[in-house]
Amino acid sequence: MSRLNVNIDHIATIRQARRTNEPNPASAAVLCEIAGADGITTHLRSDRRHIQDYDLNALRQVVVTHLNVEMAATDEMVEIACRIKPDVVTLVPERPQEITTEGGLDVIAMKSEVGNAIKRLTAAGIFVSLFVDPDTRQIRAAARMGAFQAEICTASYARLTENPGDLTVRHTSEIARELARIESAAKLAVKSGIRVAVGHGLTYRNVPPIARIREVEEFNIGHNIIARASLVGLERAVREMIDIIRMGRSGN
Ligand code: PXP
Repeated sequence: MSRLNVNIDHIATIRQARRTNEPNPASAAVLCEIAGADGITTHLRSDRRHIQDYDLNALRQVVVTHLNVEMAATDEMVEIACRIKPDVVTLVPERPQEITTEGGLDVIAMKSEVGNAIKRLTAAGIFVSLFVDPDTRQIRAAARMGAFQAEICTASYARLTENPGDLTVRHTSEIARELARIESAAKLAVKSGIRVAVGHGLTYRNVPPIARIREVEEFNIGHNIIARASLVGLERAVREMIDIIRMGRSGN
């Protein structure tokens, strides 16, 4: 079984470009669910660059499938999660200047912060997923710390597969090596008793080989879906505006 969670953060990125009230991430979440998404993923960043606290309240009210909130393992974020009660919290690393999450959480180096966050979130009835690189030490640590799921970071795979330029033999073998790393991390996670999700940089082009890894149950995909939606919906949006202007001109 595989599930798709759509990350709707970039709906909020468009809204925040004008600090207005559209497009609304909660409306986007409903449309994703109507289209068949199994869940909605969103990242409440400490700098609130896209999703705002009020969005989380709205999402919690409208999402009927599964709400996965990504956040840093800080007291502020854990308190918000315990109040909002998403179905799942995914703990991710966060650096203020980064354009997007840059890699997995080092759960070994951050053992006490991550351990505390897992304890508090679990006590509030929230499942905890840890976003980690496809690294055996990180997967083992995630299982030891009581996470119910590891989300394997596919950023390196995405960098290799989506890099413009020649697909040289070296490049192809690097992709195969990264895929093998993801697959063995996924197998180890299942053997260690935890579920497997994947995410970051997955696209319509590079997702098929990852989808062939049987152990992967959940896909968290955002940027590429929202980017495509902005283009496939553009023609209709332009036509609608032309129609309205023409109707106004003709006095109807
Ligand atoms: N999973 C995690 C943990 C993330 O931080 C992100 C980005 O917010 C995603 C999945 C989605 O990545 P993308 O937008 O590249 O599909």
